[in-house]
Amino acid sequence: MTDTELLGKLRDRVRLVLWSLVRIPLALAGLVLVPLQLYAYPLVLVTVGVPVLLGVTALERSALRRYRRWAGDVLGTEIASPYRVPPSRGPIAKVRWIATDPATWRDLAWMVVNAPLSIAAGVLPLALWGSGIAGFVAPLAWLDNATVEYVFLRDDTPGGYALAPIIGGLFIAAGWWVTPWATKAHAAVARWLLAPTARATLTSRVRELSDSRADTVDAQAAELRRIERDLHDGAQARLVSLGMSLGMAEDLMARDPDAARALLAEARESSTLALAELRDLVRGIHPPVLADRGLDGAVRALALALPVPVEVDVELPGRPQAPVESAAYFAVAETLANVAKHSGATSAWIRIRHADERLAVMVGDDGRGGAAVTPGGGLRGIERRLAAFDGTLGLASPVGGPTIVTLELPCELSSEKTSSSSGTA
Ligand SMILES: Nc1ncnc2c1ncn2[C@@H]1O[C@H](COP(=O)(O)OP(=O)(O)OP(=O)(O)O)[C@@H](O)[C@H]1O
Ligand SMILES: [Mg+2]
Repeated sequence: MTDTELLGKLRDRVRLVLWSLVRIPLALAGLVLVPLQLYAYPLVLVTVGVPVLLGVTALERSALRRYRRWAGDVLGTEIASPYRVPPSRGPIAKVRWIATDPATWRDLAWMVVNAPLSIAAGVLPLALWGSGIAGFVAPLAWLDNATVEYVFLRDDTPGGYALAPIIGGLFIAAGWWVTPWATKAHAAVARWLLAPTARATLTSRVRELSDSRADTVDAQAAELRRIERDLHDGAQARLVSLGMSLGMAEDLMARDPDAARALLAEARESSTLALAELRDLVRGIHPPVLADRGLDGAVRALALALPVPVEVDVELPGRPQAPVESAAYFAVAETLANVAKHSGATSAWIRIRHADERLAVMVGDDGRGGAAVTPGGGLRGIERRLAAFDGTLGLASPVGGPTIVTLELPCELSSEKTSSSSGTA
């Protein structure tokens, strides 16, 4: 270890000790909230308890959010918020929500435990470092000419003094080792009490799943309505007019062959249009290009159709499952349509990767930015479609641009390789 590394580590430890000392008064202040909250419960009966309870809980939760972040940083994990979703109704429902949430009681337990724990985690390292330093300082003697000298270096040194720096060294070594562990142990207890319990995690997961199921059902119903409408207004109408044209041509065949021929030409036109519409419809359900050429080829085809140049960079060592592939494809199609419609961009790019069992798709443009997920909009539609697969949509679009849309979908790839190239479409 070089001197600068050693100095850096020493600085880290000094910082840890100072911070653990700062946490002592904070923990003691937190202790005051415990009786406040407990007294507020009986006072709820005479109404004054309601604002007190809501206020104290809000204060406590915002303070504990910081503890969660701190413990997460120390332990290198993220500690999620354990609270149930608040009710939208009045204050009494909120009181019930607070009182019945196990996380409330775990928070209280934490505040009680945190006070002695903070004192121990702050005082123990301080005592070790202090004793260590004292071991080096104690045998110092002031000499007449105002210089200092280790007394045991002189002839008249009492024997015991010689041991003081050695014991001091041992204390410093112990302080060096204990300081980070004291902080880690403190953070580990914080995680134990402040992180969501397995049960709370499951409950929130079940809620998420039922929300996304409801969304999926809605999205499927909307999709079915769209297909129904497209068929009704498109191919079905064309086929009706085709039938009529053919019927009239049949009638006219003997009397007026020229008019019959014109009607047949019209019928052929109608059949071509009906076919084109059916083809478009099929493409909207599961685009053949996706089935044939995979996500890479299908996204390139989308990029080619855009009026702005799009740089496509896809690295997929295999193919995602068909429904995931399809969701990713339609998401890219919508974001590219947005680029063309709203962004005013001069160029755009698409990047698709698979890592950590997640498919990550990014679509960016250098346009005017300001995109937002709006109810009923295409981006909201993507969000709902992705939620069915536990996927997420991220949007970074400051006013003035650029816009970057990020899609993430958990998925495994099959071994079939589609492409690993990049280029500009
Ligand atoms: N790439 C972009 N650059 C700038 N603004 C964008 C971009 N994408 C979306 N927006 C803005 O965000 C809004 C929401 O987009 P969204 O796709 O949800 O709805 P929409 O495109 O208006 O409607 P729909 O997708 O149903 O046709 C748009 O109205 C547009 O103002
Ligand atoms: Mg849109």
